[in-house]
Amino acid sequence: MAPKIAIVYYSMYGHIAQLAQAEKKGIEEAGGTVDLYQIAETLPEEVLGKMHAPGPSKEVPLITPEILKTYDAFLFGIPTRFGTYSAQWKTFIDQLGQLWSTGSLHGKYFGVFIGTGTLGGGQELTAIQALSSWIHQGMIYVPLGYATTFATLADLSEARGGSPWGAGTFSGADGSRQPSAKEIELATAQGKSFYQTVAKVNFA
Ligand SMILES: Cc1cc2nc3c(=O)[nH]c(=O)nc-3n(C[C@H](O)[C@H](O)[C@H](O)COP(=O)(O)O)c2cc1C
Repeated sequence: MAPKIAIVYYSMYGHIAQLAQAEKKGIEEAGGTVDLYQIAETLPEEVLGKMHAPGPSKEVPLITPEILKTYDAFLFGIPTRFGTYSAQWKTFIDQLGQLWSTGSLHGKYFGVFIGTGTLGGGQELTAIQALSSWIHQGMIYVPLGYATTFATLADLSEARGGSPWGAGTFSGADGSRQPSAKEIELATAQGKSFYQTVAKVNFA
């Protein structure tokens, strides 16, 4: 059976949402299908207003633990907060105790893609820290690696997010920078290689 894949992300200013679309494109180009879900907002309206956050898109449904159980593989889109998960993401993860105690996610696959403000702001650190939550669930990490992306990952001609841990983008200190062509290319390549890896698995 073809793997049932979901992209789950939180995006306050839309950068991670753009990478999610590129990941989706990559999965579809490789022959797969994928559903998109968002992590629920946890900050009060007043705080979101002060942060000039437009609020989550109405078009993408919210993920729940029950929905998570129905998929075989996931790409998780994570915007860095002080070098680690956003609180919105962590609030969702901390609702997964029951899935952990029943082994509901054990053996499922995941990859990560990351957003930071700047170079050195914690893309790889966030990816590494993200692993712990899913490793505890018994899930299998699929990195981006270098096999299909070495030329782009080794290209130092411009500032670019992304690493062998997963695609990534820089938003700039004020959020005005948008994902570059190379960052979108890496996210598409990640969607493709992620699908090619999980498509080899026999999901009963
Ligand atoms: C409270 C807060 C903490 C942040 N911490 C970091 C950080 O440690 N390093 C960094 O490079 N960017 C940091 N950022 C910038 C975000 O990572 C960036 O705005 C986000 O990845 C943009 O993605 P989005 O448009 O999908 O929300 C922070 C932003 C906020 C609001």
